[in-house]
Amino acid sequence: MKDRLNNIEQETLVKIDQAEDFQALEKIRVEVLGKKGALTEILKGMGKLSKEERPIIGQVANEVREKITEKLNEKNENLKWERLRKQIIEESLDVTASKNLVNIGHRHPLNQTMEQLENLFRHMGFSVIDGPEIESVENNFDKLNSPKNHPSRDLSDTFYIDKETLLRTHTSPVQVRTMLSQKPPIRMVSAGRTFRFDDVDDTHSPMFYQIEGLVVDENVSMANLIDTINVFIKNLFGEEFETRFRPHYFPFTEPSMEVDVSCFDCKGEGCSTCNHTGWSMELLGCGMVHPNVLEMCGIDSEKYTGFAFGMGVDRITMVKYGIPNIRLLYDNDKRFLKQF
Ligand code: PHE
Repeated sequence: MKDRLNNIEQETLVKIDQAEDFQALEKIRVEVLGKKGALTEILKGMGKLSKEERPIIGQVANEVREKITEKLNEKNENLKWERLRKQIIEESLDVTASKNLVNIGHRHPLNQTMEQLENLFRHMGFSVIDGPEIESVENNFDKLNSPKNHPSRDLSDTFYIDKETLLRTHTSPVQVRTMLSQKPPIRMVSAGRTFRFDDVDDTHSPMFYQIEGLVVDENVSMANLIDTINVFIKNLFGEEFETRFRPHYFPFTEPSMEVDVSCFDCKGEGCSTCNHTGWSMELLGCGMVHPNVLEMCGIDSEKYTGFAFGMGVDRITMVKYGIPNIRLLYDNDKRFLKQF
């Protein structure tokens, strides 16, 4: 009997040592100490023993039970610690790890161009003025000397909200607003969104950006206009860039001109980008403010003269960075935008 008890003890202690989880441990406990467990059976059979044997075997059996219980408890504790250790490793959060999760953006290339130009003109003594994107037909067309039959007023060219209101087709109505609210001398630039009924293609978008400038003072001449434009073109693109002024027509300026700038690829030598002309065509429009416009805006055209210029910010940005397609500027694709 004693041997059997010792065997149970030995075997059970080894099994407990080897148990890998709580389930295995519980199984061992039931097998030995449970209602029908090996040790329980022996204790139940104690009555059959002789008077002499009973206390001796009883004592050994109790010792065995205590040892096994102790070992079970110890193993149970170990398993608990093991479980906690694994949990800590699996669920741990290394607060010192840097994962670069913050994606810091930057100015859109169109905003960069506008800010660069606004800053440049500020240095030249211009003020920067904002105008509304929803404009009156009067400011957008009539006060800019654009006759009722002018093609740009057509429904197929312009987004009308009602008969008197539209999405501005250019930033020039801000000239009108400035002249109506300020007295000369005036030196202002204004940049923002403009809208025309254009289908999207590589160079057109129904919404695009313009920047506009206006100077009104006594003795303002065409020489001032040409000089101002040369200064800002060289500042924007580089000293080596030349300008070429061609006669053109705008209803609100007289005379009117379009300005070309040396080709960005060949710097004027002639290449396939510029059709071997050496020039990037039609970068901006400009001219001397038409006397009718001055008069309609309450400025004495006998005393004052002025010049104005306007250009597409998209076009300038595309030429500057060699962007082949205007859609790229509006797609919001970070892979494209982060290059600038
Ligand atoms: N508003 C003209 C356009 O959108 C550009 C321009 C502005 C021309 C000022 C002359 C003077 O094409």
